[in-house]
Amino acid sequence: MRRKLVVGNWKMYGNLAWNKALLDAAVEGLRDYRNADYAICVPHPYLWQAQAILQGTNIAWGGQNMNQFEGGAFTGSVAPHMLVDFGCSYVIIGHSERRELCNESDPVVAAKFEAAVKVGMKPVFCIGESREEHEAGEAEEVVARQLDAVLTRVGAEGLAKGVLAYEPVWAIGTGRGASPHKAQSVHAFIRKRIASLDSGVAASIRILHGGSVRVANAAQLLSMPDIDGALVGNASLVADQFIAICRAAN
Ligand code: PGA
Repeated sequence: MRRKLVVGNWKMYGNLAWNKALLDAAVEGLRDYRNADYAICVPHPYLWQAQAILQGTNIAWGGQNMNQFEGGAFTGSVAPHMLVDFGCSYVIIGHSERRELCNESDPVVAAKFEAAVKVGMKPVFCIGESREEHEAGEAEEVVARQLDAVLTRVGAEGLAKGVLAYEPVWAIGTGRGASPHKAQSVHAFIRKRIASLDSGVAASIRILHGGSVRVANAAQLLSMPDIDGALVGNASLVADQFIAICRAAN
């Protein structure tokens, strides 16, 4: 049985007081729900605060991005070991917003995946097709290409050190997520592709679902055989909603 994992992605939201209220509420609300894993990925400046509040609880924390290099003249960038210094166990890699807005290519995403694993973090590796690709019926082709970039670089054993997140880009932030069955069919396709290389890794790797996961659709999505958790944006910004989704995973 794969243990479910819910990851909150705060994106570029928050401030010290707001973060504290949300983190305190999550700690309190999830204390007695120990049959699933939880993590919250906060903006870099607040990692120390997440660490201070979440340390010793059943909620992990992580970054939303990092540079693939260990150090160097990269103004404004954050190196993998810097996230580790603040206790991060997860880092989101290849989120569609970074692929789109920051031109992160498949090879860059693969390099980041490898760099995160090297310092002992679990990359939450995001894949998913855009609306145009979806409408053209290219979802499988696109996720296969994105997945293969990482598989080529680190192999199936390397992939096993991370977590996958299938997020159809057309569903992100729209309030209109993929239907559970539609989502399941892509998740199954992803697992089958990994199985063609290594059936053990395919059986054990967690494939999260993202894109408008809300309280209303979480339980149904999470009941699908190949959906092992959720990557939650919007709903992770409201304590009661995030807690409810985490409890559904529990
Ligand atoms: P959403 O975001 O839940 O607001 O759709 C998900 C994500 O971008 O990871």
